[in-house]
Amino acid sequence: MIKVGIITASDKGSKGEREDRSGEVIKEMVTAKGWQVIDYVILPDEREQLSQKMKTWCDTRHVDLILTTGGTGFSKRDCTPEATLDIIEKQVPGIPEAMRYYSLQITPRAMLSRSVAGIRRDTLIVNLPGSPKAVRENLESILDSLEHGIGILK
Ligand code: MTE
Repeated sequence: MIKVGIITASDKGSKGEREDRSGEVIKEMVTAKGWQVIDYVILPDEREQLSQKMKTWCDTRHVDLILTTGGTGFSKRDCTPEATLDIIEKQVPGIPEAMRYYSLQITPRAMLSRSVAGIRRDTLIVNLPGSPKAVRENLESILDSLEHGIGILK
């Protein structure tokens, strides 16, 4: 059973000013694979808060996979990739490469996502973009391969 943690990075979402449909899409897609969502949080676009949450889930909760949504674009406050890079030990560039390759066939704006992926200890972390549509398109391009990678990490 793959244990998943979901982090939505959104200033408005964290204040209850916007419904988090993207986190729900992730939940629905991983649950359909038979994976277990063990925790799900909405945090503001604050680098330190995002990286600390990821670190705790890796080091003390031992989740297998952390999926983030939001904060990968060009807005001044977007910092999810930087928060991820702050705490990972190894980058896995092939995952964001695959997502952008697949997504570019849907929209040229896929090039604007700065998503990264990486490993800390036993946990794989993958950044997804913010919109529910982008989450679905990006996640469906990698989901099956993630299972193989996590199997090796475990
Ligand atoms: N990827 C897919 N598959 N579909 C999309 O609609 N939107 C893009 C990109 N990736 C998109 C996508 C856009 S418009 C942006 S700005 C970036 O993701 C970053 O999104 P974020 O700032 O919400 O994280």
